Amino acid sequence: VIEQVGAREILDSRGNPTVEVEVALDDGTLERAAVPSGASTGEHEAVELRDGDAKRYLGKGVEHAVTAVLDEIGPELVGIEAVEQRVVDQKLVDLDGTPDKGRLGANAILGVSLAVAKAAAASSGLELFRYVGGPNAHVLPVPMLNILNGGAHADTDVDIQEFMIAPIGAESFREALRWGAEVYHSLKSVLKSKGLGTGLGDEGGFAPSLSSNRDALDLILVAIEKAGYRPGRDIALALDVAATEFFSDGAYTFEKNKRSAEQMSAYYAELVDAYPLVSIEDPLSEDDWDGWVAMTAALGDKVQIVGDDLFVTNPERLEEGISRRAANALLVKVNQIGTLSETLDAVSLATSYGYRSMMSHRSGETEDTTIADLAVAVGAGQIKTGAPARGERTAKYNQLLRIEEALGDAARYAGDTAFPRFTP
Ligand code: PGA
Ligand code: ZN
Repeated sequence: VIEQVGAREILDSRGNPTVEVEVALDDGTLERAAVPSGASTGEHEAVELRDGDAKRYLGKGVEHAVTAVLDEIGPELVGIEAVEQRVVDQKLVDLDGTPDKGRLGANAILGVSLAVAKAAAASSGLELFRYVGGPNAHVLPVPMLNILNGGAHADTDVDIQEFMIAPIGAESFREALRWGAEVYHSLKSVLKSKGLGTGLGDEGGFAPSLSSNRDALDLILVAIEKAGYRPGRDIALALDVAATEFFSDGAYTFEKNKRSAEQMSAYYAELVDAYPLVSIEDPLSEDDWDGWVAMTAALGDKVQIVGDDLFVTNPERLEEGISRRAANALLVKVNQIGTLSETLDAVSLATSYGYRSMMSHRSGETEDTTIADLAVAVGAGQIKTGAPARGERTAKYNQLLRIEEALGDAARYAGDTAFPRFTP
């Protein structure tokens, strides 16, 4: 039974404030959860409450969200069984009363929702992945390691936000993570040898200035080979274009030229032919439905096409996408929708229509590892949580190592089954 709900303002990985919530149960259990924050946020995401007081944290303080947890949400939850996750989450939604959770703040709401789940798990004596996923949770996701950062996560003119490697050929998560880390170091050497910068972007990947987006892919292929792996067979490539960021007035400004959705789609078709790409996220802007539908029809049987800003982990947006046949996979970010129950609903909906799910961090993260457990709980098969470096990123990958170990012989690494099998 929930006895007390606490909250405080802490720092995220970019040095911005965020919300941490603590839930205490009457059996002595105390668990906390911290809330992440995006930079390339979608227009349709649930709203994170920021104080707007320019004298504190450049207006980004979250004292109002903390107060909402302490004064409004907490007292409503005292006395409820922590295992009643859906009751708790429905209460949070009703208490807020707005469609975008902007009154209490999605940051306040998510912190509470996740902390309640963690407290319920701990109190039941179960690991979080087991508590949420039940006895059949056993699939370890492919780590989609973001080793080269551009877009809104770097100060360069590389348009594409994330260049990821997916160690699909590994036998276990542990091996996949080692391969990924080796390629990460290999890429650093390749960049150094070419006189390119090895400074890091927001998600821990290198952020060199490059003259084209294809250059990034070529450098990564060299890094994979130099590390002793076969591109495509051992390690595949994936992108998050985050195209909403460079779309305005009906055009995509890409590599310094204005392009239409058709031109962008043709460019992706070339990339899919030239590189071992298994997944492209947000290739087009968040409301360019017609572009998404056309691109899915053209490329959807060759590559996974993931909706992030398009779906914002929102079952209603996803339903719209499914009915129009836009994208073929869902990016899952707990803070885009704001409660655990709604997140699980989005994943179930995706699964029931044959859409894959990729669990995801945000570019602003904390040491909270909840998403690692959720990836295994829902059998997502894929997780992206940045480079295999920087504590807030490795916290999630390291938690997956622990989960794999805890599962022992029952663990299965998703490998290439994580992605749709496309007939050649
Ligand atoms: P964000 O980036 O957290 O800055 O939104 C991650 C993504 O676009 O997937
Ligand atoms: Zn994205």
